Amino acid sequence: MLYEEIIKNVKLAGGMINNTAASESEIYNKEGFSNFVTDYDKKVQDFLVRKMKELLPDAAFLAEENEIQQSLGKGDCFIIDPIDGTTNFIFDYKNSCISLGLAKRGEMVFGVVYNPYTEELYTAEKGHGAYRNGNRIHCSTKGLEENIAAFGCARYNSDDTDLIFDFAKCLYLHSLGVRNGGSSAIDLCRVASGSNGIYVELLLQPWDYAAASLIINEAGGKITQIDGSKIFLDKPCSILAGGSICWEESLELWKSLI
Ligand code: IPD
Ligand code: CA
Ligand code: CA
Ligand code: CA
Repeated sequence: MLYEEIIKNVKLAGGMINNTAASESEIYNKEGFSNFVTDYDKKVQDFLVRKMKELLPDAAFLAEENEIQQSLGKGDCFIIDPIDGTTNFIFDYKNSCISLGLAKRGEMVFGVVYNPYTEELYTAEKGHGAYRNGNRIHCSTKGLEENIAAFGCARYNSDDTDLIFDFAKCLYLHSLGVRNGGSSAIDLCRVASGSNGIYVELLLQPWDYAAASLIINEAGGKITQIDGSKIFLDKPCSILAGGSICWEESLELWKSLI
């Protein structure tokens, strides 16, 4: 019932950006080059925070906008990216999503990622598998050479530009090709459904990957930091996520690069 209510509200939040031209919104600059936020990011987040508080009044929140960054704590914590893919939203790419995860005692228990443009709803409850629109999904069980590799890079994290592009080239040479979709949460969910064999990005925030991390784990894949260590939900991480064989092969490629 709780999870059904969460899904209902995430879909409503998706409806707030679908059929919306970002040109109708104010666009503001955040810290760093090419780092934007719109009124819609804030509106969607305010809506979700209000609705989630009605469902779990004692929950903490870790959310991208408006500096709602409470600690995960020992109870429930919602980890929310109101629009993942804000630049895509501004440029009408129709490849953005709402990402909402629920952690209990610091561990993910529920995750939902909704792309309102394609109406793809990815969900996972701990121990109960991963789903897209109600159908079970699984990570790829094949290697890189039989898969697409995806990567992300943001201009405002440009310190590691050479490194991520060197790695992307390396993945390109060992896979069927590379993609860069502009929404890390969608690309991570595409790992869970087997569309992407691997996804890599240096320096993501917990709201980018929290919900998708459970979806990937429940789809039989691996999501770790880039060096193979466990991810954190309360601080930024560089992420390597894939089906188990792609993940192992990519980790080896990464190690050979640095
Ligand atoms: C960004 C997107 C993008 C990724 C960036 C993220 P935002 O999130 O996920 O794909 O490359 O690192 O910050 O700002 O659009 O929510
Ligand atoms: Ca952002
Ligand atoms: Ca994001
Ligand atoms: Ca965002």
